[in-house]
Amino acid sequence: MVRQATATPQPEIHEYHKEQFLISTDPARLDVNSIHAFLSQSYWETKAIPKEIVARSIRGSLCFGVYEGQRQVGFARVITDRATFAYLCDDYILESYRGKGLGKWLMGCILSHPDLRGLRRWIVVTRDVRLYEKFGFTALKEPETYMEIANLGVYEKGVAARR
Ligand SMILES: CC(C)(COP(=O)(O)OP(=O)(O)OC[C@H]1O[C@@H](n2cnc3c(N)ncnc32)[C@H](O)[C@@H]1OP(=O)(O)O)[C@@H](O)C(=O)NCCC(=O)NCCS
Repeated sequence: MVRQATATPQPEIHEYHKEQFLISTDPARLDVNSIHAFLSQSYWETKAIPKEIVARSIRGSLCFGVYEGQRQVGFARVITDRATFAYLCDDYILESYRGKGLGKWLMGCILSHPDLRGLRRWIVVTRDVRLYEKFGFTALKEPETYMEIANLGVYEKGVAARR
């Protein structure tokens, strides 16, 4: 029998302003179509990700949207227990908005979010370390202690078997 989880209080929404740009943690503002469009056009392992998986991943994460007016121009998703651990992923700034400092501003907002301060471990998986190095990320100190199950072709194989 599946039991309903006890309702937990909704997390506070945080907003940050710089020039004409807004960063917000309000999930209701996120443009799932544009996030899905970026992820499925990127060089990442998310090329074949279905939109409903993007939507579900957003529901289970602390997300940061970057906006110019109504337009979403950037995104980052933090998978976290808000107490000990955070995995930063799916972060991007749309190409025409890059090089203006938005990526660094986004990283600063994420790392200073009250629920994400003082965590024991942060993880990011990236092919380009330059942005993250500026914020204290380093290569794995003991890579032999990290293990994973990498189902990299999972989206290509389809989601029929998944709930
Ligand atoms: C990485 C990314 C979010 C950076 O956004 P941005 O708004 O252009 O970043 P900023 O303007 O704040 O500057 C980023 C800093 O990293 C450096 N940088 C330059 N090109 C970079 C790149 N392709 N990736 C990462 N860092 C880069 C810059 O030198 C800059 O530092 P500086 O101002 O001290 O020189 C953006 O390039 C992007 O969306 N890339 C594609 C998606 C991606 O690779 N995401 C990371 C996946 S883990």
